[in-house]
Amino acid sequence: MEREPITTRQKQVLSIIYNWIKDSGFPPSFNELKDELDISSNQTVLDHLANLEKKKLIKREEGSARGIKILNKGYNILGVNQLIPVVGTTAAGSFIEAIEEMGNWEELSQEVAKLSDDLMIVKVSGESMINAGINDGDFVLIKRTNNFKKGDIVLAQDSDGTTLKRIIFERGKYFLKPENPKYEKIELSEETEIVGILEKKYLKENLLKDKESFNVLIRRSNGNGKTLYPAVDLFVQKKIDLPTTTDPLILVGDVIEKLKLIPDKSISVVVTSPPYWNLRDYETDGQIGREKNPKDYIEKIVNVGDEILRVLKDNGAYFLNIGDTYVDKNLQMIPQRVAIEMQNRGWLLRNQIIWHKPDHMPSPVKSRFTNTYEPIYFFTKNDWEKRVHFDIDSVRVPHKTENIQGPKRQNYNGKFLGNEKNIGASPGARMSISEPKYTLKRKVELPQNLIADYLKKWRIKSGLTVKQIDKLLDYTHTAGHWLRKDAGGSLPLPEDWKKLKEILKLDNKYDKEMTETELVLQVVRNHPNGKNPGDLWEINTAKNGFAHFAVFPEEIPRMAIKSCCPPNGIVLDPFAGSGTTGRIAKELNRKSILIEIQDKYLDIIKKRCGKINIIK
Ligand SMILES: C[S@@+](CC[C@H](N)C(=O)[O-])C[C@H]1O[C@@H](n2cnc3c(N)ncnc32)[C@H](O)[C@@H]1O
Repeated sequence: MEREPITTRQKQVLSIIYNWIKDSGFPPSFNELKDELDISSNQTVLDHLANLEKKKLIKREEGSARGIKILNKGYNILGVNQLIPVVGTTAAGSFIEAIEEMGNWEELSQEVAKLSDDLMIVKVSGESMINAGINDGDFVLIKRTNNFKKGDIVLAQDSDGTTLKRIIFERGKYFLKPENPKYEKIELSEETEIVGILEKKYLKENLLKDKESFNVLIRRSNGNGKTLYPAVDLFVQKKIDLPTTTDPLILVGDVIEKLKLIPDKSISVVVTSPPYWNLRDYETDGQIGREKNPKDYIEKIVNVGDEILRVLKDNGAYFLNIGDTYVDKNLQMIPQRVAIEMQNRGWLLRNQIIWHKPDHMPSPVKSRFTNTYEPIYFFTKNDWEKRVHFDIDSVRVPHKTENIQGPKRQNYNGKFLGNEKNIGASPGARMSISEPKYTLKRKVELPQNLIADYLKKWRIKSGLTVKQIDKLLDYTHTAGHWLRKDAGGSLPLPEDWKKLKEILKLDNKYDKEMTETELVLQVVRNHPNGKNPGDLWEINTAKNGFAHFAVFPEEIPRMAIKSCCPPNGIVLDPFAGSGTTGRIAKELNRKSILIEIQDKYLDIIKKRCGKINIIK
């Protein structure tokens, strides 16, 4: 059982701090905390605070009577939404008054809270940013940081006050640039401080169109004094009810928008093939794949990955089949770049599976080799403590070789039918055999300790150092292993023994045992249910005559679902196309959700999956 990371008493302290902030707009003072806890000892209170800080649940600000801030982790422990300060007005005109906490706190949705411990809502005044969609009276979400990039919309502060502007760099200087031609840009002076940046991810593209409701919500909560509303309720749109039958549920629309409707941690396996960059036209606005350059495309696919990370169960898996393309005869490595960026964003890459197409398209190219495969990335959550559901037995394939019954030794239950130690071939090498294989083995195996002691005695006698022995044998870092008695030790091969004999002037004591060898049949004991299919999948391309031109073979979702979706799990394909994933999920008796932007494919999906439920 997982241990509660804090004691009941510490949780009580945390909860008192939370309630103070929530009810009165500021954390309790030291004495108020003592009163609430009904304890007289200052030290006990200090200890509790120190422990909470050590566990990164709160942060204390030195020299401030009420300087306690609850960190994200603290809110999580309490199971409540993060509270963020609503700060004073900022000018989207010129600089005006300084930021000042108004003692108003708003409850932040879980989704936004994940972004940072340092968010604040800022009320904008003035019209200098209207072309960026930020109007007088708007509330914007700002992340407190002075770490900005050129082009960011920043909250800047100097002795005159604060302002919201875009930061630009021109002729060697930084400027705060208004997004309204009526206003002048302001050069950044030494005393200007960048206080924070606009949380673009939630405001810029996705949410500007919903900004009205965002504002309304905030205003309502402000107007209401201490009553708490989820200030950014808008971010937690109402989620869909998850499917209860194996009839696929189809969400028609843009992938990011529709993924937002799926509850957190509800999906067991995602398997999909997005549109490849610059390949096809799905004849609809908002389609992915028509970006100006690979970089913009990669960003979009990785953003889809971010949302998938949220909806995936902790033990879930994501299979992404994605193709590459050439620009000016230069292979773009798009799949690999996507995979690396996904790792940067918190995914664990478990396999790069090669889908080899035995029936690949013939190609007229004469100056390079024909492309015959596509990668399929197998990702899991980057959380090694929560093991992925992986049912290897359901995807085993027949062995290529028969078991060859050799002599079986007693007390041996390993992979090899013969229990002999061999010289040279590693277990890996033996496992990969496609036919019976013989390896060389010493007839008699002497204990390593014995030989190490023996060689040590003769080395000392010879006056040679280990390095000198290596040099005489033309080796590096080898002789030392023959003198070791721990796991790093090894026995010299017969030919090395013969050379050592000359160098160290060994007697004949162990010659026979160390040099006499015989050939031994080495055969792998096959797993009775077949072998692991490995990461090279030979699958013919799909040919099903539907009027949809980029269908992936059924075997891809079949492998993903069988290996990674428990019987009652839900499968998701965010780029459904003709619905291959939904069809296979149903065949395997699993529930599924499909997302597709192009509603003219709904008929095909229906034909392939039978009964479907649609949410438009
Ligand atoms: C390569 S196809 C998927 C084919 C699918 N695996 C199958 O077997 O039929 C990609 C699909 O993504 C859809 N698509 C493109 N942009 C999208 C977007 N922004 N949101 C949702 N779907 C999108 C396209 O309409 C297309 O059907």
